[in-house]
Amino acid sequence: MEDKLITSTTTTQNISATEQSVIHIWGQTQLSGEVQISGAKNSALVVMAGSLLCSSGCRLRNIPGLVDVDKMCQIIEALGVKIQRNGEVLDFDTTGFNCHTPPFELVSKLRAAFFAIGPILARMGVAKVPMPGGCSIGARPIELHVRGLQAMGAHVEIEHGIVNAYVTGSSKRLQGAKIYLDYPSVGATETLMMAATLADGETILENAAKEPEVVDLANFCIAIGAKIFGAGTDRITIVGVDKLHSADYSIIPDRVEAATFLVAGAITNSEISLFPVIPDHLTAAVAKLEQIGAKVVLDAPDRLRVVPTGILRGTDIETLPYPAFPTDMQAQFMAMLAISEGNSVITETVFENRLQHVAELKRMGANIKVKGNHAIVEGVAMLSGATVTATDLRASAALVLAGLAAQGKTTIQGLHHLDRGYDRLEAKMRNLGAKIERVHVNGDGDLVAHPEEVIVRV
Ligand code: UD1
Repeated sequence: MEDKLITSTTTTQNISATEQSVIHIWGQTQLSGEVQISGAKNSALVVMAGSLLCSSGCRLRNIPGLVDVDKMCQIIEALGVKIQRNGEVLDFDTTGFNCHTPPFELVSKLRAAFFAIGPILARMGVAKVPMPGGCSIGARPIELHVRGLQAMGAHVEIEHGIVNAYVTGSSKRLQGAKIYLDYPSVGATETLMMAATLADGETILENAAKEPEVVDLANFCIAIGAKIFGAGTDRITIVGVDKLHSADYSIIPDRVEAATFLVAGAITNSEISLFPVIPDHLTAAVAKLEQIGAKVVLDAPDRLRVVPTGILRGTDIETLPYPAFPTDMQAQFMAMLAISEGNSVITETVFENRLQHVAELKRMGANIKVKGNHAIVEGVAMLSGATVTATDLRASAALVLAGLAAQGKTTIQGLHHLDRGYDRLEAKMRNLGAKIERVHVNGDGDLVAHPEEVIVRV
């Protein structure tokens, strides 16, 4: 019998403003079995924006079921595009794409939506896109995106929180340019790469981001007819073409979700298989897991198995751009280091405010001190269940992992973060044997719906 969740996204959206959901976890349960890894959130969002480059439309497969994906659909639809969703498949009909102003209320809630400025400007010669707000992990400026578009001939004015970019001249086309990024920003690389696909001439991005999601976007753009060379290196060359056609494209598996499940195995002393994965995308995470004590076995080219050894020992971690250890896996590894023998130092260099989960892990008995962008973790024998609040997306996954390892019951609040970026995390954990459930409570903390009401047994 398989649990088929109607989708946690739908469930979350259907509860009223005065209600919220919380997750309860009863820790120290052995996990086992296989987990299916969904499509990568960060690829899916930007490739969806990239669909605006197609003159007629495209089909995207392996799209994860996430609140952020729903929001991106709404934003693209607001531009005149028709989207049909069938499970993990999205069909885009871009023939009606006629609007260059995505709505403020939607873009302000989804940072990745700002990256659509590249394709909108490339297709229409004008784009008015609200600035993305800062978020709980940092201020998240956009000057690298703006400077790159200016180098390609765009006029950019920022007024009343709206980035107004336009190209003058009869062709309304951006011009190829040589652009050096001061920092290998993932979003800026993606914005500029998409913008350059339809520009006049050649664009070279130096010090480009090398993340697998950048390569996935480049592969999608190539599938629709773009000429892109060097994605995955720090020098990407894009030769502009006149028009981009349709394609049927499948998103890569989510390396952050995969790493989260690898940690789930190690932290609960359980053997778990993951499929499908691209092991090369997980090199840094696997290397750290092995230093900490777990073994990671390659069972097939797209299948990994985490095998615990009963030992977890401290290690130091520094987050940096790919291929180094990713900031999006820092919180999850911190949960594991909190119960690893000895001391660990975690240094967060990518975002300035991404250690807020420390306070929540401390509620569960972790011994962690923060000094600037360093977290000094002194391993404790065991965490204990507590009521904790997710402070951002990856922090919420870290709390789930901590709850799985902890003695007793953990209750996690603030699940809107989790639903943004993890496709049915509780259902997947439950299939592995975790004792985890989501309940909907009203403002007073009273139960209003039990998870069984949203799960159909088939
Ligand atoms: C993307 C990912 C996010 C991941 C991050 C780093 C998506 C939707 N999100 O975010 O999950 O954590 O990469 O791997 O793909 N910066 C500037 N100026 C800019 C742009 C960025 O100073 O114009 C700074 C940011 O504030 C941050 C650092 O550069 O400190 C990295 O940001 P960036 O690589 O751009 O991350 P995102 O693309 O926003």
